[in-house]
Amino acid sequence: MLGNFEFCNPTRLYFGKDSLEFLKQELPKYGSNVMLIYGGGSIKRNGVYDQVVSILKSCGKKIVEDAGVMPNPTVEKLYEGVKIARENSVDLLLAVGGGSVCDYAKAVSVSVNYDGDPWEKYFLKMEDVECKIVPVGCILTMVGTGSEMNGGSVISNHKTKLKIGHVFGDNVYPKFSILNPEFTFTVPERQMVAGIYDAFNHICEQYFSGEDDNVSDYIAEGLMKSIVASSRVAIKDPKNYEARSNIMWAATWALNTLIGKGKSQDWMVHMLGQAVGAYTDATHGLTLAAVSIPYYRFIMPNGISKFARFARNVWNLEGKSEEDLAKAGIDAMKSWMEEIGVAKTLTDLGATSEMIDGIADATFILDGGYKKLTRDDVVAILKESL
Ligand code: NZQ
Ligand code: ZN
Repeated sequence: MLGNFEFCNPTRLYFGKDSLEFLKQELPKYGSNVMLIYGGGSIKRNGVYDQVVSILKSCGKKIVEDAGVMPNPTVEKLYEGVKIARENSVDLLLAVGGGSVCDYAKAVSVSVNYDGDPWEKYFLKMEDVECKIVPVGCILTMVGTGSEMNGGSVISNHKTKLKIGHVFGDNVYPKFSILNPEFTFTVPERQMVAGIYDAFNHICEQYFSGEDDNVSDYIAEGLMKSIVASSRVAIKDPKNYEARSNIMWAATWALNTLIGKGKSQDWMVHMLGQAVGAYTDATHGLTLAAVSIPYYRFIMPNGISKFARFARNVWNLEGKSEEDLAKAGIDAMKSWMEEIGVAKTLTDLGATSEMIDGIADATFILDGGYKKLTRDDVVAILKESL
């Protein structure tokens, strides 16, 4: 391992069937005004809302609701949330939902006490937080993003066709997160597999980079194998607690910064996927799935030994040459994606060939992976993904 790093993850996690009980233990740490943030209503339909509200009331909290956080939360919604939080002097932002709700809560958290435009400061200029934040707690209902244990917050601006993530520091991480795998049982299959692929790809983004022997890569392989095994069970039996709990925990570890420590990271699939998302508003995990195979085939010649290792250690393949093995590993990943129903094209997600230039312009090009792309490479990969 060659890199220098600091590791601290300040989020306190409660995991399992009884984990919501621990909300009672957390709430006394905060003032009385709680902003209950959620999405389009799934938590009302599956009973999670009633359980959370009952605990908030029993702990004497005053509840201010902020509902309707959409998948891929928008900058307009962010401004609305900041207004609600200010008007009600909220002491805790309690996000109950998937990555969109958690990300949104973090964006509100850093904006309540900032007088300027948060979109400009945090997402366009990527500036650090200088104001007092409002603490965030999460009750996760959809697995994939890792937002429950990281500082990431992704906001979409449809007017300027930009979807941008800011990774905030330790103080913006959720103070606590509650993970009950049973809360994810009602997630529709299309969303479940999108989340599974999102988590898998977070691992790929940190794995397909660097040449050194690194403990992070061994952990990454274990997480990938666990996700593949559990996904095969969950797709046949979505209420299988063991499989859903494994997926939930693996997804948290996939993006809580641990497996990126001490190594360079790629993140180009996410840059491509986010640009596609800005143009189509498609489900995040599916945008990643659509560009992944063309992207990995494109960079594979520059990272043959890691792709061959991926084939051996994640897919248990043996082959004659390193190059054949490298190709077979990507083919195995593609077959698994087809098996769980996540193999989509950009066309399936509503993108058209006329959008390619715009999507390419909205793609931030990073250089941590095996090959730094040119704009022409981005266009070629996007065309291949249609
Ligand atoms: O809005 P509701 O009605 O709650 O429905 C949601 C939403 O339609 C539904 N859902 C969630 N839990 C459910 C449920 N439906 C039934 N039962 C349940 N238990 O699922 C839909 C999708 O939810 P969403 O939160 O949008 O999904 P996800 O967790 O994939 O979050 C996606 C967002 O996170 C960002 C993405 O870009 C996207 O904006 N990301 C955040 C990251 C981070 N913080 O580190 C990293 C990721 O790479 C990603 O970019
Ligand atoms: Zn992702």
